[in-house]
Amino acid sequence: MIFGAILAGGTGTRMNLSSMPKQFLPLGDKPIIIHTVARYLMNKRIDAVVLGVHADWVEYTNELLEQYLPEGKARVKVITGGADRTETMLRLLNAIEEEYGASDEHIVLTHDGVRPFFTQRMLEENIDAVYEYGAVNTVSPAIDTIVVSDDGKLISNVPDRTTMFLGQCPQTFRVSQLKAVYNSLTEEERKTLTEATKIYMMRGLPVYLVQGAVSNIKITTPADYKMAQAIAEDFAD
Ligand code: CTP
Repeated sequence: MIFGAILAGGTGTRMNLSSMPKQFLPLGDKPIIIHTVARYLMNKRIDAVVLGVHADWVEYTNELLEQYLPEGKARVKVITGGADRTETMLRLLNAIEEEYGASDEHIVLTHDGVRPFFTQRMLEENIDAVYEYGAVNTVSPAIDTIVVSDDGKLISNVPDRTTMFLGQCPQTFRVSQLKAVYNSLTEEERKTLTEATKIYMMRGLPVYLVQGAVSNIKITTPADYKMAQAIAEDFAD
């Protein structure tokens, strides 16, 4: 089976809101998180969606699904997220196995709830590639030159920009392998390694690149939210 997993368990501290986590803010005609869920549901190869939100927002999220996606709601399961992004990810993987059983055939497309402008083309390419390579990351070519500094004061490297990409989502994996990779981390690694594709790379496992888009932004700050509102005005997929 193919699953969409949405990480939306954060509280959005960098957005400086007191009312609600940023994923529930309106964007055009519906909340940000509903855009993300709806885009997964549009893809007929995706069998089910699991969505991790903070415990305080589970009920509200179910209400939003009822209001905005009454027909798709049956394909979505809302669960309580974890204390950090990795824990939310592990909870989503466990929820998939609890609900649908463990299988080496299960594929999971993981996505940030606050990154609503991904496309069906990206989903399709992620699904096709994961069967061949085992892990996939959606990326966008670096537009600005990347400058490396080890101490934050002096430049230590200016890598060739043509080899630099910005990591986006979806990221796609085999559920059983992703769990095994996370479970292989030491306590120390678990604290510092928050990026699943980096763990794959460190374990010598291939990660295939699918082309993302400049518009596939993650809404992190108030400036991102303004940009998202502009993108939403003429975003079509
Ligand atoms: N996330 C999650 N569970 C957590 C923390 C984060 O599922 N415990 C999710 C967020 O909801 C978001 C994604 O991971 O969709 C990317 O994280 P980020 O943009 O950093 O979101 P927040 O943690 O909400 O924001 P901030 O770091 O500003 O507090």
